[in-house]
Amino acid sequence: MNIVLLGPPGAGKGTQAERIAKTYGVPHISTGDILREAVAAKTELGQKAQAYMGRGELVPDELVIGIVDERIQRPDCAKGFLLDGFPRTIQQAEALDEKLTRQDKRLDVVLNIVVDEEELIKRLTGRRICATCGAPYHVLFKQPQAPGVCDVDAGELCQRPDDTEEVVRNRLEVYKRQTAPLIEYYRDRDILVDIDGDRPVEQVFENIRSALEAKV
Ligand code: AP5
Repeated sequence: MNIVLLGPPGAGKGTQAERIAKTYGVPHISTGDILREAVAAKTELGQKAQAYMGRGELVPDELVIGIVDERIQRPDCAKGFLLDGFPRTIQQAEALDEKLTRQDKRLDVVLNIVVDEEELIKRLTGRRICATCGAPYHVLFKQPQAPGVCDVDAGELCQRPDDTEEVVRNRLEVYKRQTAPLIEYYRDRDILVDIDGDRPVEQVFENIRSALEAKV
């Protein structure tokens, strides 16, 4: 199954993507993770992307479209994939449609995770991630067993540079301006399913599971 996870910053895309990938055996492709790895490795892509990400702006379409195009052609995507954080503009969505059509594929479902803005700000400013494996935590909603230490690999928990309140507010504005129009784009194609993301993590996942089962 070819799935897209859509939703504003902090909606829980990464949290749910982990569960979906494990349950359905599809590769989780997060453009945010790919870009952060490139920044950490100081590659040419990372150097180009860093300033945009730091301000909470989108990285230019041509850079991101190239990454995804290459990634979805790998053998592990032959039976399906889960895109998290892509597409984020109409131009990216059109490029994805075109590339899938050329490979005789299509998107099966777009899961639109809906959460209100004040909750998003709370989630993002309180988020901590493992510096080694990227697992997400939260200072109030998802605390690790030992303070400041990842449950999975004992890595140090830190704050993402774009999770400060000022940058979070800009990311939300960018989402409204550039990404929210995709909701109608996919609704018009009859593949969009709204998921209430303002519920406990496991309940959100159960609703996603029902939506996916209805599509197979
Ligand atoms: P990216 O990494 O994709 O960030 P994002 O979309 O802003 O999403 P987040 O990762 O912040 O949130 P999420 O929805 O995954 O939530 P999470 O599960 O972590 O992108 C970063 C940057 O890269 C962009 O700003 C841009 O510059 C660039 N970029 C990436 N893709 C691009 C593209 N296609 N085009 C151009 N530029 C691109 O959860 C958040 C917190 O909430 C966590 O602490 C979690 O524990 C908690 N939480 C999750 N679910 C719940 C729940 N149900 N209840 C309570 N707490 C919850």
